[in-house]
Amino acid sequence: MKSYLSTILLVCFLNLSFAGEGMWIPLLLKSLNEAEMQQMGMKLSAEDIYSINKGSLKDAIVHFGGFCTSEIISSEGLLLTNHHCGYGQIQSHSSLENNLLKNGFWAKNKKEELANPGLTATLIDQIIDVSEKILAGVTEEMTLKERQSLVDQNIAALKSGYNLADYQDLVVRPFYHGNQYFAFITTTYRDIRLVGTPPESIGKFGADTDNWVWPRHTGDFALFRIYAGPDNMPADYSENNIPYKPKHHLPISLDGVEEGDFTLVFGFPGRTQEYLPAAAVEQIVEVSNPAKIAIRETALGIIDKYMRADEETRIKYASKFARVANYWKKWIGESKGIKRTKGIEKKKAFEKEFQSALSADSPYKNLLSEFSALYKEQEPLAYVRDYYSEVAGRNIELMRLISISNRLVSNYENNGEESYNNYKSRVIPWLENFYKDYDARIDQEVFQALVTMYIEDVGTEYFPKQINEIDAESFYKNTALSSQEKMMSLLSEPAESAVAKLKEDPAFMFGKAWRELYTEKVGNPINNISYQLDSLQRIYMKALMETFPDRRFYPDANSTMRITYGKVDGYNPVDAVRYTPITYLDGVIEKYQPGDYEFDVSDKLLELYEKKDYGQYTDKTGKVPVCFIGTNHTTGGNSGSPAIDAYGNLIGLNFDRAWEGTMSDYNYDASICRNIMVDARYILFVVDKLAGATHLIEEMDLVRPKQK
Ligand code: ARG
Ligand code: ASP
Repeated sequence: MKSYLSTILLVCFLNLSFAGEGMWIPLLLKSLNEAEMQQMGMKLSAEDIYSINKGSLKDAIVHFGGFCTSEIISSEGLLLTNHHCGYGQIQSHSSLENNLLKNGFWAKNKKEELANPGLTATLIDQIIDVSEKILAGVTEEMTLKERQSLVDQNIAALKSGYNLADYQDLVVRPFYHGNQYFAFITTTYRDIRLVGTPPESIGKFGADTDNWVWPRHTGDFALFRIYAGPDNMPADYSENNIPYKPKHHLPISLDGVEEGDFTLVFGFPGRTQEYLPAAAVEQIVEVSNPAKIAIRETALGIIDKYMRADEETRIKYASKFARVANYWKKWIGESKGIKRTKGIEKKKAFEKEFQSALSADSPYKNLLSEFSALYKEQEPLAYVRDYYSEVAGRNIELMRLISISNRLVSNYENNGEESYNNYKSRVIPWLENFYKDYDARIDQEVFQALVTMYIEDVGTEYFPKQINEIDAESFYKNTALSSQEKMMSLLSEPAESAVAKLKEDPAFMFGKAWRELYTEKVGNPINNISYQLDSLQRIYMKALMETFPDRRFYPDANSTMRITYGKVDGYNPVDAVRYTPITYLDGVIEKYQPGDYEFDVSDKLLELYEKKDYGQYTDKTGKVPVCFIGTNHTTGGNSGSPAIDAYGNLIGLNFDRAWEGTMSDYNYDASICRNIMVDARYILFVVDKLAGATHLIEEMDLVRPKQK
């Protein structure tokens, strides 16, 4: 009773409402989170989750390719991640005759599992707090440059003190904006094979229409396997490699979840900025997001028109369209969410509280006004930066060809022919792949529209003068870059003449002039301001932690291993509407639109549904759960993360967030921020009943923790 009470008191004191906010460092769980997690229903200890002395949950959590998360679900290195995380690999094994995207793929035995050159799986051996060592000698009087160079030296010294195997790495990362440093010792496996994937009609069900949307019915999963050398250590691909034997793998719960159940999500979130001042969030909502949204909307409108007109174009542009549309949609939800939850007003109120808590002689007195002044100074530049990066850096595909050409030229001129040839040999396969999915007509129309927007909105002074009145048509006609044939023939010439021709190419010259103008007028000055902002952000973080010593602060995401926990919970997307937290197979059938590329359903799935052939993969009422949501605080990079129950079993697979709460990257709000997970039972149902891959089911540990 006493410890129960003291936990309650502690929680009230910390001003937490079991909300789910925070991405916590596994190493610090014991001191910061264990009590609260157990209070919320967790039956595990911090040591069960992260330990360097015994196998713990962390030994099953794997950074997939450096951009997603995955987890080990068998004693033979079977790896579960999202379909959208393995999309590139699945696509690369696909052809018109053997279309894995369309039909799915299931290796019948280990021999049939498909190798994926370049794909890696990274495990975390150990996390070490190295703050003292990295910040040794650093003083507040130092200039930013001096500070950075001392930190770099300290990192190098730390690294040289470790005796690592060639497959290991020691990565040091700043936390709390450079107030603390943690080191990660990692082991990276490099023979990762594709084991199975459902067809897109399951793995990408709902596609862009349902992306970021709840209620959701996507079976966004795929299976891979880690292979190791005979000593269980990382090795290059070889037929003699064997399935990796993990220190821990996650059992899978057949009991699933109910509203209110504890959930833990373990993975590698990419980037959040929770401690920005109100001035910065205001800039995002008022300036950056509207600009970026408008640009992408224009580009997407043009691509969509061509995709609808022609099936071949649709296939060519599907993946590019999805990528551009993903963040376009996210930013719209983000801005709406910040407004709806009064995110800026809340930050302002908090800043008032902070300011009035400072003593009269506090060194932090002017911090917030310095922030505001700098953001104000930055604002017009940030607007051009966002325009330039979206227009030139992202949506006009020709610009990518220009930057490749530029690198070829500069390699040749600065480092000689060998360097040119090295880069060229890498870039040719890339170009072949690029042109396969490139349509110069579409790009030309995007170019015309976006450049017009750019000139109208940011002004001619940021655009190379000589092409003020740009004529996209003659421009695309006269450059070699927009044509595979012309470009490849140019590159087949001897280096010297290829470089000479590139330098005279109208697109090349235009791109170079644009970039130089941008760098001088915007790039350099804004870098200078960002540098100062970074430093202020570090000081602000420190000031917050000193001013509110009783509050718990979690570090912003930085692609390192984190834990977030919450509960299964619905939310109100708008007034008077309540979303419940679990979807079912019936909902897939409700959304079914025969022949539609987003909402089609395979005959096999329809048949299973008709016959109610669900096996052991239903809830208590006999329905097959498909997806569920929770209050776990996740971001990009958390895709593929396991959702884990109170006992340490896998209950789901994280893959998205609900649209209304995508502002969680700046302003987590428990009322509407929800992560979306595929229910593990849907995954098992698809593997067992739809794919008939029973050998994989046998390989897994299926458990019933609630019936114990
Ligand atoms: N919104 C999810 C994330 O940010 C899924 C994206 C992949 N799916 C898609 N339809 N684009 O990664
Ligand atoms: N869909 C994201 C990912 O791929 C996850 C998110 O942004 O919530 O990592």
